[in-house]
Amino acid sequence: MCGIVGYVGTRDAFPLIIKGLKRLEYRGYDSAGIALLNGDMTIFKKAGKVIELEKVVEEGKTHATIGIGHTRWATHGEPNDRNAHPHVSQSGNLAIIHNGIIENYAPIKEELIKRGYEFKSDTDTEVLVNLIEEVQKKENTTLDHAVRIALNEVVGAYAIAVLNRNNPDQLIAARKGSPLVIGVGENELFIASDASPIIEYTKNVIYLDDKEYAVVNRDGSYAIRTLGNVEKSPEIKKLEFSIETIEKGGFEHFMLKEIYEQPKAIEDSLRGRMNASQGWIKLGGLNEYINKIDNADRFLITACGTSWHSGLIAEYMIEDLARVPVEVEYASEFRYRNPIITEKDVVIAISQSGETADTLAAIELAKERRALIYGICNVIGSSIARASHAGSYTHAGPEIGVASTKAFSTQVSLITLIALQLAQVKGTMPTSKLREILYELENIPSKIEETLTLDAQIKEIAAIYKDASNFLYLGRGYNFPVALEGALKLKEISYIHAEGYPAAEMKHGPIALIDENMPVVFLATNRSAYEKIVSNVQEVKARKGKIIAVVHKGDTQIRALADHIIEVPETEEILSPLITIVPLQLLAYHIAIMRGCNVDQPRNLAKSVTVE
Ligand code: F6R
Repeated sequence: MCGIVGYVGTRDAFPLIIKGLKRLEYRGYDSAGIALLNGDMTIFKKAGKVIELEKVVEEGKTHATIGIGHTRWATHGEPNDRNAHPHVSQSGNLAIIHNGIIENYAPIKEELIKRGYEFKSDTDTEVLVNLIEEVQKKENTTLDHAVRIALNEVVGAYAIAVLNRNNPDQLIAARKGSPLVIGVGENELFIASDASPIIEYTKNVIYLDDKEYAVVNRDGSYAIRTLGNVEKSPEIKKLEFSIETIEKGGFEHFMLKEIYEQPKAIEDSLRGRMNASQGWIKLGGLNEYINKIDNADRFLITACGTSWHSGLIAEYMIEDLARVPVEVEYASEFRYRNPIITEKDVVIAISQSGETADTLAAIELAKERRALIYGICNVIGSSIARASHAGSYTHAGPEIGVASTKAFSTQVSLITLIALQLAQVKGTMPTSKLREILYELENIPSKIEETLTLDAQIKEIAAIYKDASNFLYLGRGYNFPVALEGALKLKEISYIHAEGYPAAEMKHGPIALIDENMPVVFLATNRSAYEKIVSNVQEVKARKGKIIAVVHKGDTQIRALADHIIEVPETEEILSPLITIVPLQLLAYHIAIMRGCNVDQPRNLAKSVTVE
């Protein structure tokens, strides 16, 4: 949700910042802008993607060794040139880029207007840069102290970087609620929303903590203080991923690459955490708090979007295998509905980015009520990972496509381990069954490989239905959350309206939608409710709906009824989401491509939603 890049050192800052912005474009792509210091302050900004910004850049004006750049996901003010960042203070001395929302911007703006400030944009960000300028004037202090004082006056979330025309050797950065990383090179420093713009130049990074600000200097020196003005000695961490993992590696889109990466991502999520032949599961985060977790009255799972769908699968699995009550909550609702949470609850927060503001807020509430927080995140060092008492990383590697794919499947594989370990601790499952599931979990990557070979067939089905206006996705049991996820994938990248439903619930309303123009995707791999699903398929067929069915290899009954059959390898029912989601991801991908949509950067979306 808005991407930030800053650089100070000896390199040419312009191409470096532009490249960094392209890597961060998944965070927002409503507009982009850059500010450079080269004698004077040079600013270019433009509505649209970074490529549009490049078109307005004047040659000969880009040479600089210090600068900041921004790619925006609009909150305050529509996405046009005027509202694009950087925003400049009234005097023209300060330029700021900002990710987040300043909630109390209106009274501050009013006050600044009274003092003679004029505003050129509708943004909260322009208010902040002018507040910093006003504080510096009033307090007659250095810019970093003015930033600190101003940030103590604002309410909201932010990651910011400030460029000062009067000091071409220094950048100031700060964060509260939005991520910020500082890259430490040889006589050069980088600032970014995540490590992807930095990894090419240095593997040494500092993750700024909430309510901290950093002063970074051209000679490579830096200082970090809290907003309460306490000096910090930050830990330099080593980045573990490589530049290849954030490039497309021969695929046309990140989403397709990430769909194909799922077998490896699942292997990585399981590595060192289980052994089927010896029948053990070892999740470090879980072991640490196992007594509290074992004695929990119930699990509350909180998440958003795709991660919420993983949470639903977790509910089915934990109740099924470990016999503990589970409730799944949209993080955004959880926070505001005054839920009952006690210190005997364990709250599992699931988030790919680890930065989702709604999920973070839900965690804070649960922490206030003394629940134990177990975080399941993909991004290492992310805010949710740090705000949790315990947790496990999914190890999917960077997910760049805005539509989540491999993050979902690794969340599900990790959740399977959690449910199995709980079942083991509680003695709710015979060891022989546990081993069987672990063996099958080890086989899942090769079964996904096999499912991926269906790509060409799925593309043919996509060509038939690419112009549909609506889709229905139906599944039962473990495949119900998959139906929701399949529908979400299709709507977010192809803009076709799609609904996921429990198959049996169809007759209570959605059946009215079915006619010869309605494609209905059935997830029909369940053994337990197979005959019931056959009946649901028949109900759709009787109303002339078009049936696309994901079934086990060798299925005959549904084959006889469906218009299209996608045959996937058979597996344990509880593991079936890991297989059945794959054709749905591919179907959504191909339909979106055929409709000319930008699958990696769908309209109005951003990869990490750091506003509530
Ligand atoms: C859908 C998607 C979103 C996210 C949601 C939560 O493809 O990506 O629905 O799942 O915004 O994001 P995280 O998991 O980062 O908390």
